[in-house]
Amino acid sequence: MAELSYRAWQDGDDLTLREIWGDAESAAAGAFRAALAPESEANPWRRTIVAQDQGIPVAAGVVYSTTLHPQRLWAFVEVAKDHRRAGVGATLLTMLRREAEGALAAGLVSTAALRTKVAPETSGAAFAAAMGLSVLQRNRVVEVAPAALKLPAFGEGTEAEASARVQDLATGSVELTDVVGRYYESVNTWDPTGPLSPGAVQRMFLDDLTGAHGALVLRAEPASAFGASVQPSKKGRIEAFAVSYSQGHLPTEDGAPASAASEVFLGVEPKLAHEDAVRAVYDLLALITHQYPVLLELDDSMEALAAVVNPMIEVGAAKVRGTETLVLGE
Ligand SMILES: CC(C)(COP(=O)(O)OP(=O)(O)OC[C@H]1O[C@@H](n2cnc3c(N)ncnc32)[C@H](O)[C@@H]1OP(=O)(O)O)[C@@H](O)C(=O)NCCC(=O)NCCS
Repeated sequence: MAELSYRAWQDGDDLTLREIWGDAESAAAGAFRAALAPESEANPWRRTIVAQDQGIPVAAGVVYSTTLHPQRLWAFVEVAKDHRRAGVGATLLTMLRREAEGALAAGLVSTAALRTKVAPETSGAAFAAAMGLSVLQRNRVVEVAPAALKLPAFGEGTEAEASARVQDLATGSVELTDVVGRYYESVNTWDPTGPLSPGAVQRMFLDDLTGAHGALVLRAEPASAFGASVQPSKKGRIEAFAVSYSQGHLPTEDGAPASAASEVFLGVEPKLAHEDAVRAVYDLLALITHQYPVLLELDDSMEALAAVVNPMIEVGAAKVRGTETLVLGE
C-alpha cells in the first residue's frame, strides 16, 4: 500500500466514503458516521481527519465534545475494509488525540479523555481495547413481553386508592421534569452530566421534538401530616415514571424488524432505597406491559431496572433486540 496522506474533512467526503465503506458494521458505527463533519470550534468542538490513498478518501476519524457529558470527548474511526490492519486506524486515533490535547491546552475543551461506542466482538471493539480504552457501560434495547409481571394491588383495591398511586402526567410537568433529570444524572455517574437544568431535561426527554407523548407515574402512598385518620390532601411523591415515545426514538440495529412495542423511558426516584426502587420499577412495568409489549433502553448502571429486567431476559419474558452496545473510554 502506498503512503497515505491525511487532511481535514471536506464537503463531499461523506458521499465518497459511504460508497467505499459500504454498509455500517453496527448501529453505533452507523450513528457515528453522521458525526463526520467539518471542524468546529465550539458546541460541539470537533476535528475530523480523512486519510487518502492516491487522492481517494479511504478512512476517516472524528473527535468531538458534547455539552451534556463534558468529562470525555466522543471519538470514532472507520477504515475501508481493504485498508485495515495496516495501522491506519491507530494513526488516525493518534492524530485525533493530538488535536484533543491541543484543544485542551487552548481552552477549547474541558478534557482530552476519549470514549467511543462499539458492538461487542467487532473490529471496533478489538481496536478500541487495543488503543487502551476499557468498557465503561453496556447498553441494550430490551423488549418486555405483555402480561409477564403481576399487576400491583393498591390498598384495599378501590379505584380511589389506585388513582392516588397511578397517574397520567403531562410531559410538561415540573414534578416529572425534576425526577427524570435527577434519575438521568444518577444513572450516568460513570460519565457524569453535571446538574441538568429543567430546560435541558425537557429538550432531551420530554418536549414534542423528542417524540414523548405521555407519561405514567407511580406515586408513594399519600400521607396526611395530621395522621392516618385525616384524609391526605396532597398526592404522594413520584416513585417511578414511564415516558412513552412515538416509534423511532431508540437506536435499533440496521435491518432489524420494526417492533410493534412502544418505546418507553422508565426510571425511579433516585433517593429510593434499592429494594423500594426495584418494587416501584416492577409495579410500573407490570402496569405498562399489562396488555402490550414495550421497548426499553437498559444501561447496566440502571440498577433497579436491571434487577427487574435481567431475570425476565433469562426466562424469555424479555428479549434483547439487536446487539448490545458498549461504551469504552479512558
Ligand atoms: C476499528 C477500525 C477503525 C480499525 O482500523 P485499522 O486501520 O484496521 O486498525 P489498525 O490497523 O490501526 O489496528 C490497531 C490495532 O487494533 C487491533 N485491531 C484492529 N482491528 C482488529 C480486528 N478486526 N480484530 C482484532 N484486533 C484488531 C489490533 O491490536 C491492531 O494492531 P495489530 O494489527 O498490530 O494487531 C476498522 O476495523 C473499522 O473501520 N471498523 C468499523 C468501524 C468501527 O467499528 N469503528 C469503531 C472504532 S472507534
